[in-house]
Amino acid sequence: MSANRILVVGGYGAVGATVAAMLGGWFPGRVVVVGRDEARARTLGGVRADVADPDGFRRTLEELGDVAAVVLCVEPPDSRVARVCLERGVHLVDIGATWRLLDATAALHGAAAASGATAVLSVGVAPGLTNLLARRAHEAVGGADRIDLTVLLGAGERHGADAVRWTVEGLAEPPAGAPLRTTLPGHGRRTAHPFPFSDQHTLPRTLGVQRVTTRLCLDSGPLTAALFGLRAAARRPPVRRALTASFSRIHLGGDGFALRADARRGDRHAACAVTGREQSRFTALVASYVTRELLTGTPSPGVHHIEQLPALSGLPETLTAHGLTVWRPGGPAPEA
Ligand SMILES: NC(=O)c1ccc[n+]([C@@H]2O[C@H](COP(=O)([O-])OP(=O)(O)OC[C@H]3O[C@@H](n4cnc5c(N)ncnc54)[C@H](OP(=O)(O)O)[C@@H]3O)[C@@H](O)[C@H]2O)c1
Repeated sequence: MSANRILVVGGYGAVGATVAAMLGGWFPGRVVVVGRDEARARTLGGVRADVADPDGFRRTLEELGDVAAVVLCVEPPDSRVARVCLERGVHLVDIGATWRLLDATAALHGAAAASGATAVLSVGVAPGLTNLLARRAHEAVGGADRIDLTVLLGAGERHGADAVRWTVEGLAEPPAGAPLRTTLPGHGRRTAHPFPFSDQHTLPRTLGVQRVTTRLCLDSGPLTAALFGLRAAARRPPVRRALTASFSRIHLGGDGFALRADARRGDRHAACAVTGREQSRFTALVASYVTRELLTGTPSPGVHHIEQLPALSGLPETLTAHGLTVWRPGGPAPEA
């Protein structure tokens, strides 16, 4: 194995497997797949490690030596693994979607800056592409007072187990705001429901916008209504377990996704959107391009959300080569 290894943690999961394949193509011989299943990791030439055990993770880094970057394709329970990486000067790419955890990692900015490491947070589809769209719409109105983000996911896609668990947990949180009807390219006018994507917490700080709302709908209207109809019941753990099990087994609908950002400042309004297929694949593509930028560009040390790095602002256009369609502010309206 060559020097300057790249650890892909969760590297045989729905997102991680594509990240490992992409990075393996760009950086031959440098990718190490990591997961808790030793046999599975070893089959892929990787090693066992558990992000819930930061001391064990530190030992893994020490044993491997010369690790340039860690790509977290699984959410650790806290920010201790991030600290282990950043204090050692190891770059970090984190596809995590839980705002409290992102905040805890953002608090490691000083440690990262001191070691010369860079961490990029809000990497993926939502958060990730949503953050980049929000920034575009924000700039198009000359600094928004309010941003509304809408995410449509395909109920037919085989989302990874960890992503399904995260989504069902989000459903159990008390809704912030009311449903909104909006047009999503390729899907017509849809009702999207308040959902706690991390952007609503992080974007007010990174963009200086007073109010950011985030909403979710599925490609199937009836399934969206059924899902959000179960919102109150989902506060009970047995209901969440049942929902997680059904979403992992039942795949009704397509694999397309759509993201839309609407920014408002007084009576000014700007909208932009993207559509694509397979959110897991696009989450992996975003993570791979971000990692490549960290390893080949000149990232400034510290912890940043994706929309804070100018070098990544054109990523939606880069991803058109992989099937993403982009509606820019000021261009044709993102209507069906
Ligand atoms: N930002 C975004 O847009 C976005 C989009 C999709 C997903 N996500 C996030 O990405 C994460 C992964 O999603 P996914 O769909 O790829 O899930 P997945 O298919 O369940 O994959 C998770 C992977 O992580 C490994 N893993 C689980 N717990 C671990 C631990 N404690 N230590 C080390 N490895 C561990 C799993 O293998 P073992 O169980 O064998 O260890 C598996 O390889 C989720 O946290 C999800 O919320 C973010």
